[in-house]
Amino acid sequence: MHPYAKKFLPEKSSDIIGQDMAVNELKDYISNYKSQKKKAALLFGPTGTGKTSSVHSIANEMGLEILEVNASDTRNAEEINQRIGAAMGQQSLFSKGKIILLDEIDGLSGTGDRGGIQALISLLEKSAFPVVLTATNPWDNKFSKLRSKSEMIAFNPLEADDVFSILKKICAAEKIKHDDSVLKGLARRSGGDARASINDLQMLTMLSGELTKESLEELSERNREETILSALTRILKTTDPKVALAAFDNVRENLDEQLLWLDENIPREYTNPEDLARAYEKLSRADVFNRRIRRWQHWRFLVYINELITAGIALSKDEKYRGFTEYKPTGRILKLWWAKQKSMKKKAIAEKIAERTHTSVKDALKSSLPYMQHTFRKSKQFREELTKELELSREEAEWMGK
Ligand SMILES: Nc1ncnc2c1ncn2[C@@H]1O[C@H](COP(=O)(O)OP(=O)(O)O)[C@@H](O)[C@H]1O
Ligand SMILES: [Mg+2]
Repeated sequence: MHPYAKKFLPEKSSDIIGQDMAVNELKDYISNYKSQKKKAALLFGPTGTGKTSSVHSIANEMGLEILEVNASDTRNAEEINQRIGAAMGQQSLFSKGKIILLDEIDGLSGTGDRGGIQALISLLEKSAFPVVLTATNPWDNKFSKLRSKSEMIAFNPLEADDVFSILKKICAAEKIKHDDSVLKGLARRSGGDARASINDLQMLTMLSGELTKESLEELSERNREETILSALTRILKTTDPKVALAAFDNVRENLDEQLLWLDENIPREYTNPEDLARAYEKLSRADVFNRRIRRWQHWRFLVYINELITAGIALSKDEKYRGFTEYKPTGRILKLWWAKQKSMKKKAIAEKIAERTHTSVKDALKSSLPYMQHTFRKSKQFREELTKELELSREEAEWMGK
């Protein structure tokens, strides 16, 4: 399988969407390299916003060759010198012009004798060719000297509209059936990362050749589970309270659900009985607090609960457990979900009754529905009539019969 993100690489710089300013700055920098004071251009911004593709498409247009080194597998000074040092000086009369691209420098080690960054800075002084660097976070202290030697070019997170138009082109080329509203939904959830969005699109449409609303919903559900699972990893794997404290910051599960997830998964990680006892002590205190807070509405005490179930549980272990632990959703979470589904069915039926009988949904829930449900169970004729009258779905009819 050919990944769309490779297949649909922008060929010309005009194919790069939503980064006009950065693209122009970079063109300018490369065209006038000889007169630049700064010896490198440092492209920075979130992943999947077009940094690497911009360099390639501009090189394409200008007929330049790219000497590319992925910096994430180049850690120290020797490797930097070896891989790019040689290329920087040579310029034969007949060879094409070159761009030296050192992609993803975030992982380079700092200064010091063996430091890759220090080696890079020394090399820059000698380069006969434009050097382009990319980074997601160039604000790390270790880059301060490099920043002062570089032309800083910012790539912004892409707007959902921009991601949408990137996806739209792919859909057209691949003849993927889709609804614009669903495609917009897909574009919106990427947080401005075009690569992630393109990968999602490919995954969701691979088998059916079609983007459906259901598959998009399923994807959100899956991500949601990933988020809570990584929150659990943070709490159960770390012994650093700072790491643990923020674990639940971005999850959508409410406190009750967080407690259930922990309850289910603490014993999967904490196999030492003393750790386990301490962790459960924290959890049950959190549970007690939770109920009191609700009863007395002392909401400001909620932060103590968060501390208990994040840092508290993290620090309940003597030492970290090594290895991979598979966390699981709890059986009770499933039950809660079913209960919610059921009450949704009930509400949907009550809404239909309310509409037909011109009463409020509340009244329908309280008075008509229990009576109708009773009759529904007893009389076949009523069952058939009501199913037709209210246009009950199979699930709704099943619920009425229970
Ligand atoms: N601004 C953009 N315009 C068009 N396509 C983009 C853009 N940003 C990313 N892409 C698409 O996403 C993929 C990854 O982009 P890339 O340039 O590698 O991102 P980065 O280097 O910023 O992580 C490319 O295949 C490209 O098709
Ligand atoms: Mg890149």
